[in-house]
Amino acid sequence: MKRRDFIKTSAGLAAIAFLPSFKNVKNGRLRTAHIGVGGMGAEDLKAISSHKMVDVTALCDVDANALAAAKKLHPNAKVFADYRKMLAEMGDEIDAVIVSTPDHTHAPASLTAMNMGKPVYCQKPLTHHVSEARKMAQLAKEKNLVTQMGIQVHSFYDYKLATILIQSGIIGKVKCVRAWSPKNWGYDGPAPEGSDQVPSNLDWNLWLGTAAERPYKKDVYHPGNWRKVLDFGCGTLGDMGVHIFDTPYNALELDVPKTIKNECRKPTGFGFPENNIVTYKFPGTKHTTRSLKWVWYDGPGAPTQHKDLQLPNNEKLPDQGAMFIGKKGRLLLPHFMELPRLIVDGKYETLDLSKYEAAQAMGEPVRNYETEGKKHYHQFVDACLGQGECTAPFSYASRLTETILLGVIAGRFPNKTLHWNREQARFSEAEANQFLDGVYREF
Ligand SMILES: NC(=O)c1ccc[n+]([C@@H]2O[C@H](COP(=O)([O-])OP(=O)(O)OC[C@H]3O[C@@H](n4cnc5c(N)ncnc54)[C@H](O)[C@@H]3O)[C@@H](O)[C@H]2O)c1
Repeated sequence: MKRRDFIKTSAGLAAIAFLPSFKNVKNGRLRTAHIGVGGMGAEDLKAISSHKMVDVTALCDVDANALAAAKKLHPNAKVFADYRKMLAEMGDEIDAVIVSTPDHTHAPASLTAMNMGKPVYCQKPLTHHVSEARKMAQLAKEKNLVTQMGIQVHSFYDYKLATILIQSGIIGKVKCVRAWSPKNWGYDGPAPEGSDQVPSNLDWNLWLGTAAERPYKKDVYHPGNWRKVLDFGCGTLGDMGVHIFDTPYNALELDVPKTIKNECRKPTGFGFPENNIVTYKFPGTKHTTRSLKWVWYDGPGAPTQHKDLQLPNNEKLPDQGAMFIGKKGRLLLPHFMELPRLIVDGKYETLDLSKYEAAQAMGEPVRNYETEGKKHYHQFVDACLGQGECTAPFSYASRLTETILLGVIAGRFPNKTLHWNREQARFSEAEANQFLDGVYREF
């Protein structure tokens, strides 16, 4: 089934649905449905249900073990293996939906829920395909839905501080950002051969969902390793890149890039490259020079000898992070829960936060993941209940995701500069356009 047809089918489900967003909330409490409750889904469930106005009403997972563990914590919730059944049967008992599945199921599940008028908290990256990200933002706008992408670090002290500092011009106009992670969610080997017995706790057909059918192989896809595989994940850039790009992207108020180049190995047709250097050029904004260069490094991580990345006193560069390079200095933002550090003329300079009213209003730095982590989720719940707004809604998340996914697609064309037309949502290089859209299997 083509993506468009799937969306139409999902829209059909809206007929059995009800009023959108917080207008339907019962007794001021939010009834939540969770799609994917193992791995990060278990964390999402914990954080959302820690809000005192939440009732966990429905749980869905294609792995019966993950489902049983979540049910133990929320015995009153109804359980399902198929999100379509859950949404169709529980529609009027659900106020908001949390999507924590592998990436290829983010859009199919979220669009189904959004077509029914449900607010959605969806894990990062927002989608597996560029066209899906645009569709999600459009639907959220049309239906005026509360939405949030699962980039919880967006709400952390240090990231908000870095945004304030950059936007106050602490290093002048920014000309370049370098960001890195040593994680390896790639796989350079050949596609696995043969098949393994599907474990009795797993519904493999539902796990594949809209993706093309293929044999099950133990430890290759579920859980977690799907990130390395073209049809399901988005490699390291799609995984860590979304978090590490987020603050510079937000702080510099960037739009999508004009050109993208990925220096990596030749495609194998199965896994993402294990080492990527992705160079983006963005149109300038009021915080940048006329255009902005952005370089992403994964696999071995950052080239620590690069002059932009050398730290005072020969200090070791943090394993993951971003460096803003401005006309008046550099700002290092380690990932994560560490203060940004200002470097001018090769030396650290003390950050005098008393000069920044907005920074002072944030109080003391917080170094507690438990309390910081929940903020982003509680912001979503509060917004669903009519209080405040989300800071990573799909209008923002779709642009950030599009940017990330363009770099992922560039990995199919090693060392070639691709040119992106944001209005037409097309590359000038016709051969790259086939990767913008997904073909959905009926399942
Ligand atoms: N924000 C963060 O810090 C963070 C951290 C880790 C993962 N993530 C994101 O969370 C998502 C899940 O990653 P993970 O590491 O937990 O993966 P995982 O494979 O460990 O877990 C995914 C869970 O979803 C279930 N699932 C798969 N397909 C499903 C379907 N169609 N319907 C219902 N359940 C389904 C699986 O059985 C499993 O329980 C990804 O999008 C990932 O990028 C975010």
